[in-house]
Amino acid sequence: MSLAVSNVNNEIFPTTYIRSGLTPKRCSQIEEITRRIPLPNNLGHFYNEAHYVNTIDLFYLSTDESRHKKFYFLKNILPKIECKESILDIGCADGGLTKIIARPFKKVTILDTNLAALDGIRLPKHQHQKITKIHGSAEKVILPENKYDLIVISHVLYYIKPNEWPFVIRKLYNSLKENGQLIIVYSGDLDKKAIIEHHGGYTKDFCKFYHKHISNKYEKICMDVSVENFILSNLRTAQHICNVFLDDGSTIADKDTVASYLNLHNRFGGSPYRVKFNQYFVSITKA
Ligand SMILES: C[S@@+](CC[C@H](N)C(=O)[O-])C[C@H]1O[C@@H](n2cnc3c(N)ncnc32)[C@H](O)[C@@H]1O
Repeated sequence: MSLAVSNVNNEIFPTTYIRSGLTPKRCSQIEEITRRIPLPNNLGHFYNEAHYVNTIDLFYLSTDESRHKKFYFLKNILPKIECKESILDIGCADGGLTKIIARPFKKVTILDTNLAALDGIRLPKHQHQKITKIHGSAEKVILPENKYDLIVISHVLYYIKPNEWPFVIRKLYNSLKENGQLIIVYSGDLDKKAIIEHHGGYTKDFCKFYHKHISNKYEKICMDVSVENFILSNLRTAQHICNVFLDDGSTIADKDTVASYLNLHNRFGGSPYRVKFNQYFVSITKA
């Protein structure tokens, strides 16, 4: 598939293989977590914040997505940031990504609308970092100008109205120090788009947005893409993954309807279920 983006550098992601296959250990780990998480009758909905965070954990365990994110930050972004004084992570969830990318920074600010997630995050004590937690939203938070060396908004834009994206991005950019970097991570297209749109949801064409609102508005920019494969050994896990997709696409669908779709469209007509999407990484450096 050719992408309508410039500066795509797939060499950052050393492999495009499906993560270590469905080993028995991995299957039983995924199945155990799947059993523990309640599956709503209507997908695209979470009972509470803990239900959401647990489903996201299952999501990450089922794909290389988070591994590619780590590669991207550790190999491609952190070495280029000269001053590592302060980082802002917007939408940190359980802090899985924060803990990896914030390691070298002295001051760590995390912001999330989910209070339970914020409360649960602890950074390793021996790192002696100053942590500031902000309970709020990317849209409403007021940020100081010229403050951060790195700002990350990873897998959060789905929850913000697309017409507010340019304003949020400009606000985050203004909050960077000179030469600081803003990183936006977003996933879409391929099977994710098909699943959301089949069930009446909405997906944003991220490449179009990039061309219209980023590449011609900011000077020092770069986009990278990784292709993500889910391997899901059973239908219930696949339904949990669709719960996240449908929530991202602001739609709701009966779990049996989603099951029929998955069985019909899965290449193998049943287990294992495979689902693909693109993960986009955009970096904007403050000029
Ligand atoms: C899928 S998680 C992303 C976790 C992490 N950033 C990563 O990439 O692994 C999305 C997080 O964004 C938070 N969130 C949702 N809407 C938000 C908003 N408007 N502003 C800030 N955070 C938001 C959710 O509560 C959740 O913790």
